[in-house]
Amino acid sequence: MALHRLVRDCPPLDPNSSYCNLLQCSHFKSTSIAAIHQDVLVGSVTAYRPPEQPDTLFVWQVAVHASMRGQGLARQMLRNLFARTATEGIRFIETSITADNEASQRLFAGFAAEHKAEMQRSVMFDQAAHFEGLHDTEFLYRIGPIQSVPASPSTEKGEIP
Ligand SMILES: CC(C)(COP(=O)(O)OP(=O)(O)OC[C@H]1O[C@@H](n2cnc3c(N)ncnc32)[C@H](O)[C@@H]1OP(=O)(O)O)[C@@H](O)C(=O)NCCC(=O)NCCS
Repeated sequence: MALHRLVRDCPPLDPNSSYCNLLQCSHFKSTSIAAIHQDVLVGSVTAYRPPEQPDTLFVWQVAVHASMRGQGLARQMLRNLFARTATEGIRFIETSITADNEASQRLFAGFAAEHKAEMQRSVMFDQAAHFEGLHDTEFLYRIGPIQSVPASPSTEKGEIP
């Protein structure tokens, strides 16, 4: 329920059912990460391996509580999650972003630059063709191949910079 509330409080994320959040916390726990500050869930990256792309981590949602933004928390979670999954053969990161979400675009562009990896953009779900005009187009960002994990002072339980 903490994850459900965090995502609900982080527009423009589409809120999921609490059942979906429980699946993220159980079936997808090895490919997701949480940031807890003073016993409160303040950040999350939920992700999974698409069944037909075992070398790819598809980032579903990144949420940072409004009170904790602008301190590099999303960057640190993404970095740590990749470092963990890279040991299991992940070489590409994908996510979908709407054109107006500058923070998310900068987050993933920064990750690609840090890992010296290419980033490609294409239409994933089109506003007209897939959403019947009810949702902005989701652009697929694909980063990789990612060769290595850059040296970083952060750790899995590192302090927020
Ligand atoms: C997007 C979000 C996760 C960023 O979290 P954060 O911890 O504040 O991000 P970081 O401090 O790690 O910054 C990552 C990059 O985004 C940039 N950024 C952060 N907030 C920004 C904003 N409001 N506008 C523009 N750029 C922003 C940072 O400058 C940084 O880029 P840089 O390295 O080029 O300087 C957070 O704003 C959030 O939860 N938003 C609502 C939900 C959402 O849109 N999630 C992403 C879609 S899945």
